[in-house]
Amino acid sequence: MAIDIGLRSVIEYIANRPSLLCYAFLTYVTVYFATVILFGRKKGRNPLQHDHRRSPEPFVHDTKLRDAVLKDRFKASKIPAHLDVIIIGSGIGGLGAAALLTRAGKRVLVLEQHDQVGGCCHTFVEKGFEFDTGIHYIGQMHEGSIHRVLLDQLTSGQLRWTKLDDTYDTVAVGGSSTTKWFPMKSGKDEYYNNLINLFPDEKSAILAYKDLVKDASSAFFGIVLLKVLPRLLVKFVLKTGLYSLIFKCYRKRYTSRTLQEVLDGLTDNKELKLVLCYPCGDYGVMPKDVSFILHAILVSHYEKGAFYPVNGTSEIAFHIVQTITEGGGSVLVQAPVTKILCDPKGKAMGVRVATGKKELEVHATCIISDAGVVNTFKHLLPENVAKSSCIYPLIEKVGQSVSFITAFIGVEGSSSDLKLPAANVWLYDTDDINKAVTEYLSVNADDADTADIPFAFISFPSAKDPQWEQKFPGKTSLLVITLAKWEWFEEWKDEAVRHRGDRYEGIKDAFGRKMWQRCVDLYPQLDGKKVYMEVGTPVSNQHYLACPRGEMYGLDQKVVRFTPGVVSKLRPDTDIKGLYLTGQDVLTCGFASSLLVGLICASQILNRNIYSDLLQFRKHILKGSSLSKEANQKKEE
Ligand SMILES: Cc1cc2nc3c(=O)[nH]c(=O)nc-3n(C[C@H](O)[C@H](O)[C@H](O)COP(=O)(O)OP(=O)(O)OC[C@H]3O[C@@H](n4cnc5c(N)ncnc54)[C@H](O)[C@@H]3O)c2cc1C
Ligand SMILES: *[C@@H]1O[C@H](CO)[C@@H](O)[C@H](O)[C@H]1NC(C)=O
Repeated sequence: MAIDIGLRSVIEYIANRPSLLCYAFLTYVTVYFATVILFGRKKGRNPLQHDHRRSPEPFVHDTKLRDAVLKDRFKASKIPAHLDVIIIGSGIGGLGAAALLTRAGKRVLVLEQHDQVGGCCHTFVEKGFEFDTGIHYIGQMHEGSIHRVLLDQLTSGQLRWTKLDDTYDTVAVGGSSTTKWFPMKSGKDEYYNNLINLFPDEKSAILAYKDLVKDASSAFFGIVLLKVLPRLLVKFVLKTGLYSLIFKCYRKRYTSRTLQEVLDGLTDNKELKLVLCYPCGDYGVMPKDVSFILHAILVSHYEKGAFYPVNGTSEIAFHIVQTITEGGGSVLVQAPVTKILCDPKGKAMGVRVATGKKELEVHATCIISDAGVVNTFKHLLPENVAKSSCIYPLIEKVGQSVSFITAFIGVEGSSSDLKLPAANVWLYDTDDINKAVTEYLSVNADDADTADIPFAFISFPSAKDPQWEQKFPGKTSLLVITLAKWEWFEEWKDEAVRHRGDRYEGIKDAFGRKMWQRCVDLYPQLDGKKVYMEVGTPVSNQHYLACPRGEMYGLDQKVVRFTPGVVSKLRPDTDIKGLYLTGQDVLTCGFASSLLVGLICASQILNRNIYSDLLQFRKHILKGSSLSKEANQKKEE
């Protein structure tokens, strides 16, 4: 009896102090890693040992020279000898991992199905206008930030960043004549002070929201830990239920509560709720379905404002590819992988590449897939191997994200003459976006051309790039993106590009016209200035980005994606020997997140914690730069 009470009070004591468990857990982890370090697999080389930044080299203008980097066509003779790693897909997840592995002395081969490198980072030029495809703004890229230090290394200091306007996003609510504008401001405090200015009666709700965003985004670390800690350990904390005490994201239900639930608990003001939900297009899930933690991490991502690569988003791949090739690797295009080859024991050991009519087998010790979970497990792996993995059932469980349509528009006149912002605009027709978008996405394929667009995202790449005028004087590029259903366009998925027939063109036209009208409603100065427009549909997305259903962000990111069972299984080191995953399906969508996954993936392969290498390296760099500043000051004195 006495023992029983004693035990119970101990349990109660611990239950009331979750931090104790955290400490115990951390001690365990430390001991575990110490053991691994002392007795485990040999560590690879540190890819962030030396500072690789070079002084700025001239911008490469010449199309031929650019194409030599970005459009190096697959040939068997270009495969590096003594290959260590093959990477399927050249999105930032693939390129990031490839560059880090190269710097650690590995020989890599990146294979891209499209005719140019970059995935969502690729751009294209049409009728003298350059268009982005899947990068409009990136957060946390200020000087000295972790992301910036990493990218500076991966691009040898050749990629420069520019900050968007202070008002980097504007929410425009209502139809054409009644539009209300809500500017969003960069800066941790400015962001919220501005909201309070816009909604003075809602001050307490906004401050409570601020606290929740801060707390939830700091809890995101738990999600990352579940993907990097040793599998056995993760299994243990999941089986015993300890995870719900150890990890704040689960303890405080930041993963299972939806954004809508959280906002409903804070205020009844519908307009404010819409303004707080506005970036839901950034993860492609409506507020009623998105886990609060995903929203929180996104909001905090742009806390210090938004950034854009100088000379456009193609510069990202352009410079990372050179890091890979300088290190002896190859990044080759028009190289669709059709199979991941496995040995009889189910270990991945190579890939099959389609080269015109022939197919070629290439072998390596590690295979990394940046092609997404659905492609990898439904189309690339042998069926029996795919089905033996714990990841396979997640495809059905999690589902695929929503698809989208983009209008790429060329306008006569410079962005500065037209007074267009270096920013994005988020257009919403009503304050009930859950309802409006659900209704919109339930339209039948036969009526797709008559669907009313309830939401649109507008971006002006030409205004964001400070160097645009030098390259494309007197021209403006503009993108409008809205959601779409794969089923509206599915019947044309196997037809060749530009030969999909009148009905297909008709639907495209209808969307294009509506999207352009939206721009003119908001910016009447654009009226009559459109000289080019091409509309990309879900089947175009499938063609260029190889997303199976034209989806925007790979696997869907509703609440189920953040349940511990799913989180712990979607990790870079899969349960198939020799096969690793990188890119947006592992953690969340977004450039920064996919790059971080690339880093974790390289860490797993090298058996070393590159994140801690990065922190160490950053410390060293920052110390260096403050020292040199001091030295300069002394000189001036
Ligand atoms: C319209 C749009 C706008 C976006 N805007 C932003 C933004 O402003 N900021 C932000 O941070 N994020 C944004 N994102 C999200 C971000 O771009 C992505 O999450 C991220 O770039 C994904 O990188 P990835 O490496 O996972 O995949 P991807 O960039 O999709 O690359 C995957 C690559 O794999 C290739 N591939 C697939 N299958 C094969 C195969 N069998 N053989 C060979 N190659 C194959 C594909 O062709 C593709 O190049 C946006 C996304 C979209 C679609
Ligand atoms: C961008 O391109 C211009 C030429 O159009 C060049 O002068 C400039 O140096 C480039 N900037 C960077 C950072 O590459």
